[in-house]
Amino acid sequence: MSVLDLLYYPDERLHQKSSPVTEFNEELNNLVENMFETMYMEEGIGLAAPQVNIFKRIIVIDVENEKKPENQLVLINPEIIAKEGEAGIDEGCLSVPGLRSHIDRAEKVTVKAQNLKGETFEVKADGLLAICLQHEIDHLNGVLFIDYLSPMKRNLYRTKAAKLTKARKKQAQEAR
Ligand code: NI
Repeated sequence: MSVLDLLYYPDERLHQKSSPVTEFNEELNNLVENMFETMYMEEGIGLAAPQVNIFKRIIVIDVENEKKPENQLVLINPEIIAKEGEAGIDEGCLSVPGLRSHIDRAEKVTVKAQNLKGETFEVKADGLLAICLQHEIDHLNGVLFIDYLSPMKRNLYRTKAAKLTKARKKQAQEAR
């Protein structure tokens, strides 16, 4: 298993739309394992493939963040087929470090997806899982939670993001 490199806002690649997965093979299994590894390393509760520079419709979720296999959700080619109610929490994103903001979402969602074997299943979710599913599926369509904020808030964050990028590059150089 290995930890993958994340893309960070304002990297334009994060706004790219991902394509459907058509082959359910060993490579897909390995990618999903590495995505979980990366997500846990970064202390996230969800990760979408485009965040690690892979433009395929794959998401991994573990809202408990306890690394228990029974809580790990893998959704390939996920699609929201029903939405209900209104909810919203302060969201964050591994690709948008240092920012949390309230986003309006549906309270309940039903998502149709495929598992690692290519079998179709449905998840009915509410609470944090419902919000996480909407956030991660947005990533597959090239949408980040920051895109819902006002241009003024986005610009403020861009300044912060530039500083964070600089700090990350410096750290990477020092680690070499
Ligand atoms: Ni995210």
